[in-house]
Amino acid sequence: MDFELDDSLLNLQDTARRFANEEILPVAAECDVSGEFPIPVLEKAWELGLSHTGIPEELGGVGLSVVAACVGVEELSRGCSGITTSIISNDLALNPILLGGSDDQRREWLGQCSDSFKLMAFCLSEPGAGSDVAGLQLLAEKDGDDYILNGTKAWITNGGYADIYTVFATLDRSSRHKGMCAFVIPKGTPGLTPGRKEDKMGQRASNTTLVHFDNVRVPATQRLGEEGEGFKIAMATLDRARPQVAALAVGIARRALEESLAYAADRKAFGQPIGEFQAVQFMLADMAKGIEASRLLTMQSAWLLDEGRRAAKQSAMAKCFATDAAMEATTDAVQIFGGNGYTREYPVEKLMRDAKLMQIYEGTNQIQRVVIARELSKE
Ligand code: CAA
Repeated sequence: MDFELDDSLLNLQDTARRFANEEILPVAAECDVSGEFPIPVLEKAWELGLSHTGIPEELGGVGLSVVAACVGVEELSRGCSGITTSIISNDLALNPILLGGSDDQRREWLGQCSDSFKLMAFCLSEPGAGSDVAGLQLLAEKDGDDYILNGTKAWITNGGYADIYTVFATLDRSSRHKGMCAFVIPKGTPGLTPGRKEDKMGQRASNTTLVHFDNVRVPATQRLGEEGEGFKIAMATLDRARPQVAALAVGIARRALEESLAYAADRKAFGQPIGEFQAVQFMLADMAKGIEASRLLTMQSAWLLDEGRRAAKQSAMAKCFATDAAMEATTDAVQIFGGNGYTREYPVEKLMRDAKLMQIYEGTNQIQRVVIARELSKE
């Protein structure tokens, strides 16, 4: 067992770290206040091969392993988790094509994303169906060789700007997961319109919107997999994406620790730096062990996926553990900063707001525990 990163991973880590320092950190606080979506930063990440990382080399992509993607994501997220959420949502959205698409579909849609920068959006959740994926209502009715889609998707990352949407719909609402289908739909398709942008508590640099489907005609050539395979494509996509979410949480927690260490060394109380008090040291120690344990779980789940093995349990464990650890680390960071931590003048309140979303998206941490428990009972 080797816990060292090899040279190519170290190079990638260095590139992502420099990108976070030079391109993400300088705009992060501003985007948090304004809610502005920094497309030039996302485009630069793509140019450097830090975005859409799952596109295989034979389709013109960088073809990173899941382990490598996680190494990069942790660095980016240390700069800003909102911007990084927008970046990793491209991989989330391209996975249904990778996992469920035919060779022709992969060449067509993923090839496009390698030729030029294309933002992508994964459209699964709905206003009335977040945790209960099989309860989704977006209807796909057959019309000759086409499908007509009607309904609304909610909480869609990159929803307002995406060039390509991967969309989950049902052929028959009463048949739950057995009736689901996946589609790939380009921007500009008549009837597909981004809706209201959410005014979020954290991760304000990521664009989150409703997406409306009003009689959207989609040819069968844009269906991914067979009719009825949509649910399994969605689940396999989430299994594959959750290690990146965990890595994103590790990046947030790492930043919380870095900021806290610096503050605790500088800020004095009772005539000494607060970092010399055991009460503060224990919080720093807990942050550090949370980060290490989260990273190990993240890398284990990513490695399983790279080995082509089933990773539903480990991916859910990594996502759940790392995002809970990030919430704890950022809450403690605010505590260490005291009154200063509660103001926008210091960076830790943003980290705490950002971390909260991690316990909710890509499956709430309650759903992760459901997945873990079901996998345990199968074993
Ligand atoms: N891989 C492959 N197949 C799977 C699977 C997996 N991981 N999990 C389940 N299946 C299969 C089952 O074996 C079963 O197959 P059969 O019909 O052949 O028996 C079928 O799928 C149905 O499975 P369940 O009975 O377990 O389904 P369920 O309705 O009870 O739901 C759930 C399971 C795990 C709760 C699921 O609904 C779920 O994952 N919910 C969370 C959704 C989620 O994560 N949403 C995030 C949206 S994306 C987002 O937030 C991103 C963003 O914008 C940043």
